[in-house]
Amino acid sequence: MAKPEKTVEQLKMENIISLCKRRGFIFQGSEIYGGLAGTWDYGPLGVTLKNNVKDYWWKKFVTDREDMYGMDAAILMNQNVWKATGHVGGFSDPLSECKKCKKRFRTDQLPDKKKCPDCGGEMGEERQFNMLFKTNVGAIADDTSVSYLRPETAQGMFVNYKNIIDSFHPKLPFGMAQIGKAFRNEIAPRDFTFRSREFEQMEIEYLIKPETWKEIFEHFRTEMLDWIKEIGLKQENVYEHEIPDEDRAFYSKRTIDFEFDFPFGRNELYGLAYRTDYDLSRHSKSSGIDLIYVDEETREKITPHCIEPSLGVDRTVLAILTSAYTEDELGGEKRTYLKFVPKMAPVKIAVFPLLKNKPQLVEKAREVYQNLKKEFGLVEFDDNGNIGKRYRRQDEIGTPYCVTVDFDTLEKDSAVTVRDRDTGKQERIEVSKLTDYLKEKLS
Ligand code: GAP
Repeated sequence: MAKPEKTVEQLKMENIISLCKRRGFIFQGSEIYGGLAGTWDYGPLGVTLKNNVKDYWWKKFVTDREDMYGMDAAILMNQNVWKATGHVGGFSDPLSECKKCKKRFRTDQLPDKKKCPDCGGEMGEERQFNMLFKTNVGAIADDTSVSYLRPETAQGMFVNYKNIIDSFHPKLPFGMAQIGKAFRNEIAPRDFTFRSREFEQMEIEYLIKPETWKEIFEHFRTEMLDWIKEIGLKQENVYEHEIPDEDRAFYSKRTIDFEFDFPFGRNELYGLAYRTDYDLSRHSKSSGIDLIYVDEETREKITPHCIEPSLGVDRTVLAILTSAYTEDELGGEKRTYLKFVPKMAPVKIAVFPLLKNKPQLVEKAREVYQNLKKEFGLVEFDDNGNIGKRYRRQDEIGTPYCVTVDFDTLEKDSAVTVRDRDTGKQERIEVSKLTDYLKEKLS
């Protein structure tokens, strides 16, 4: 039987994955050994894009606020943490195995739960598969040395609640925030980095008095929508999905998923949940340490409730890449470019000497490049091939501005040509005014 034709969206995804590899954004993990499913390595441009995401999140949600306490907790935690939260007993997805080809699938993602999607064979009984990565800490591998790679960053904050209270004495409401790796042994990693086994999260555990939950939930809902706009995601591709009672975790009183139209379909990008006092109460009970809050004025004792905005770093990077990916025609030529908002673009500016074999041009271009580098971080110098090719190369990695040093720069006007990625428009700008000009353009 002939294979069905690929859809436009499938082809777009293939082009994005190929661009990511070709231009050094994202590579398959352990590629030279045949790869390791569900793991991805970020190359020089990918790590810079990722850092831009993380730095901006940290600025917006931690340093620009007065009510946030940044954290970086250990990935390995005492196994009792995960027993208390219910992860050891219940952090699982439904799995079933094909009786014929022996392949395993996540049952809730099968179009027909009884039939293998690969060979058409009969599927076996469904069972629960725990997604925690288990390991042993220390030289003796027994039950007491068991630990797990954390499946979320959240618990690293809850178990430090008392440390934050004792050292900073914050008043409610306040938040703990952290960025870090999380690990889940997903049954079916898929769709490039979308569902990985190792990924990063940016999470806030915002502690509140229970009666204030509705207004604080609304505050973070708005903040997350603003964030989505600010990182350049297309608004028409973002949806808020109110999770119905029957699908929510039993401890959550309200959860919204922010979904995004990825080329492979609409899928969860972020979550915002009201987790009640579940986590602190469980840790209090399990550790025997009182995790309460004493109101300084009323002396009232409460266990704070929690609102949790939870964002995946890798899904953010993927959404930015798929949103920015554009094919169009410029000056009668087809091109592919990444239309990043300036603050997310890994390379902000590229500097070219018009010709490579004219030492005066190269020297001047290097001087301009060094000056811009001091101000803007990742700036590229490129003297390879003709100017048109250099523009295409920079377009493909989403560089917002290209600066060309030519003979007029040296002999006539001490100015350079600045070319805009999206419109291709060029402007002549004096070298002495270049930094301020680009600062304004990139802000
Ligand atoms: N602390 C709550 C929590 O972890 P979650 O919905 O399981 O909630 C939060 O995860 C976010 O982490 C998701 O919205 C997504 O952005 C990201 N995420 C979860 N699983 C992932 C995976 N396997 N690969 C990549 N990102 C993932």
